[in-house]
Amino acid sequence: MRTDIVELVRLEDYRPSDFLIDRVELDVRLHPTATRVTATLSLRPNPAGRSDVPLVLDGDELNLKTVALDERVLEAGEFEASPQSLVISQPPQQPFRLTIETEINPTANTKLMGLYRSGGNYCTQCEAEGFRRITYFLDRPDVLAVYTTRIEAEREEAPVLLGNGNLVESGAIEGTGRHYAVWHDPFPKPSYLFALVGGRLGRVAKPFTTMTGRQVEIAVYVEPGKEHRADYALDALGRSMIWDEKVFGREYDLDVFNIVAVSDFNMGAMENKGLNIFNDKYVLASPETATDTDYANIEAIIAHEYFHNWSGNRVTCRDWFQLCLKEGLTVFRDQEFSSDERSRPVHRIAEVKTLRARQFLEDSSPLAHPVRPTQYREINNFYTATVYEKGAEIVRMLKTVIGDEDFRRGMDLYFERCDGTAATVEDFLKAFADVTGRDLSHFSRWYAQSGTPRVSVHGHYDETAKTYRLDFKQQTPPTPGQPTKEPMVIPVALGLVSQNGQPMDADCERVNARGVFILDKAEDSITFTGVSSRPVPSVFRGFSAPVKVSLDLSSEELLVLLRHDTDSFNRWQAAQTVAMRTLVSLSTSVAVRDEEMNSLASAFRSFMDTDALSDPAFAALVLTLPSEADIAQEIGKDVDPDAIHRARKEMRRHIGRACFEHLMDFYRSLAETEAYSPDAASAGRRALRNAALDLLTAADQEAGEKLASEQFETASNMTDRLASLGVLMTIPGMVRENAIASFEQRYRNEPLVLDKWFTLQAAIPEDTTLDRVKRLMEHPAFSINNPNRVRSLIGSFAMLNQVQFNRKDGAGYALLASIVLRADELNPQLASRLLTAFSTWTMMESTRRSHARRALQSIAQKPNLSRDVGDIVNRSLEESAAS
Ligand code: BES
Ligand code: ZN
Repeated sequence: MRTDIVELVRLEDYRPSDFLIDRVELDVRLHPTATRVTATLSLRPNPAGRSDVPLVLDGDELNLKTVALDERVLEAGEFEASPQSLVISQPPQQPFRLTIETEINPTANTKLMGLYRSGGNYCTQCEAEGFRRITYFLDRPDVLAVYTTRIEAEREEAPVLLGNGNLVESGAIEGTGRHYAVWHDPFPKPSYLFALVGGRLGRVAKPFTTMTGRQVEIAVYVEPGKEHRADYALDALGRSMIWDEKVFGREYDLDVFNIVAVSDFNMGAMENKGLNIFNDKYVLASPETATDTDYANIEAIIAHEYFHNWSGNRVTCRDWFQLCLKEGLTVFRDQEFSSDERSRPVHRIAEVKTLRARQFLEDSSPLAHPVRPTQYREINNFYTATVYEKGAEIVRMLKTVIGDEDFRRGMDLYFERCDGTAATVEDFLKAFADVTGRDLSHFSRWYAQSGTPRVSVHGHYDETAKTYRLDFKQQTPPTPGQPTKEPMVIPVALGLVSQNGQPMDADCERVNARGVFILDKAEDSITFTGVSSRPVPSVFRGFSAPVKVSLDLSSEELLVLLRHDTDSFNRWQAAQTVAMRTLVSLSTSVAVRDEEMNSLASAFRSFMDTDALSDPAFAALVLTLPSEADIAQEIGKDVDPDAIHRARKEMRRHIGRACFEHLMDFYRSLAETEAYSPDAASAGRRALRNAALDLLTAADQEAGEKLASEQFETASNMTDRLASLGVLMTIPGMVRENAIASFEQRYRNEPLVLDKWFTLQAAIPEDTTLDRVKRLMEHPAFSINNPNRVRSLIGSFAMLNQVQFNRKDGAGYALLASIVLRADELNPQLASRLLTAFSTWTMMESTRRSHARRALQSIAQKPNLSRDVGDIVNRSLEESAAS
């Protein structure tokens, strides 16, 4: 199998580069099929490296034209070149210049790595190892150089030419129809942050004045004619810049900040220095074409990429094992930004929902790995929920453990010390250890140990002593390569609530002034004194640690928390826990008493009576039951997705019926009369109204279909139109099919809107969906080359449609396997991400499990698999995997 020949990269093998590159001068003459790149590299031996060793530059599918050393063209025999490398066996022992000419074909580049074309424009994507597809280079993040880029193109074809840094020169090349621009970036950076863009683009821009009064021009470039859809992104950029100044004291450092939207992009967006490149899905928005979720994502991703300017660019990573150093920290920063701009508790719940759905899932799958992995075969496969989301949770826990002020002092020290360097997780932690005088070595286990810790909490009330004891136990299950585990440092934010809902002040010396107890042993107990009556404990407030909690609370006690806890996260969590218990029983044919169903329904009713309308966004979250995937994960083994689907449907119907009047009231009273605004409060009202519509429809299909049809016809914005179409999708028949057709007609020239249409259809939980998906793959708007199209149709089928992807006859798995193989020939990164949908296979019941294994084996057996797909398929099949 491929794993035998693809070599493993190991953290422990890290050594500094033998050569350094101080300056890079690039001359890029853009041409659709034959772009010429001349790179002049100022090299010198690295004092920290080995001497008298050959110079080995990385390449990937490169075609070398000429190479010169200190302006002397080398002859065959003086170097060794292949598409993968350029080797100079006896390089000078003092500084020298290497001039390398390569020719590349951006039109043929379907991998979307390196220089490629999208919608007729030229753009680049270099992280992680794409720069080596442009020129031979020391393509590793600890080689920092100052870049000057000259870009030349036909003015007709590419009137706009953009590079990193500041524009220093531009002009026409007389008598040729060609023109050029020279960009200079004074900040040393690794090659993965290099970018250039050439094409026909519209622009929106505005001036920004930084905290020290520097003038910056900020701009967003999009497809001509769509400029008005870039206003929100530009606004979000300005707000991100202000926020980073205020909250982290970080100022922008160049004269311009450009964002370019492209329609073919493997990821969401990329933080290239001064020239961010975005998937247009995360830039373009108008009320008619984008949902509230789209607006929130745009805001978050614009912020994320901007924040990388400090956490990633000014301070970069020594090697790719340190990826969480920039990604985990920057996710933490974008989460904080969104929380400040919107509603903190609502945003926290949303973060935890994705963490559980993606990271907990990954952590219990064969693909589980530490936040800082120790080995990889293909780095692109490590841009994962674990590195990103669990990485962000570690930063958040650090802040919880040391407090806000020390956290800010530690961040300041980290930026100050590491500015302009390629750093490690150790450098990051050391800044906090140094400002607090604490030993963070035990805490650092969070980076090394994979798997989600389980914490059980048991309460004991002593009536006569008026004390309350909480017993904690933690344990982390085995994961691939890590059979045994050490206890973690787990911050537990907690409080006590009386049975009638009052906060109780009780003393416990183990709980600090911020209400946090640090659990750092396998077992520990804490005792509160002066507890006048049996309390209800509210633990892991705000989800203070990424762990799975088991609590010995009754449903009645949990519903006390839903009504009264001062911590919004735990109010939501309480409702979810009660619902989950019933859903698991229903799914695994454990008898469910009527009272069990009714207690949640009546809790929902009183919640709706008392305070749902004071925070509609929060109420929408409370009224949304755990998803089918959440329930599957909770059950954990021998999962039957059909039973889960039936259980969730039954419970929604039950709750919908029990709360019908309330829901109808909400639906009517929350109808918006004002013009659409994407702000969080308006979005919250729409979310609650649409959640009500969903439950109403579960209770009474006929009534629901009528309301949803009317909303579908009259909606003034995409959020409401799409939500109603989603509800109609649950009701088979002509009304649904007509709505599908009318939506297609209305948006046939809007690829990003048709993506939503693909997604909804791929998620229909009916047997005919498989054929529908195959048919949609022939739709003129679909293209296997475009990642957004593939993800919305195929990715959604595999990730959102639990019952049809996991069909008992194995046809869902077979479909995904065949598409993965097709996609792999064009775009390995896209293919391997689709393939991760199989990460749930080990928890299925045996028939499905064997179908899934066979589908995975059929992929593994294919010759010429990409490294990306080969790595995921082999790890997914490994026997040592947790199951
Ligand atoms: N640096 C990444 C983009 C990236 C990822 C490039 C993988 C190459 C390989 C960027 O900062 C990022 O993290 N983007 C996220 C969105 C973000 C909001 C989490 C993405 O693209 O999904
Ligand atoms: Zn990032």
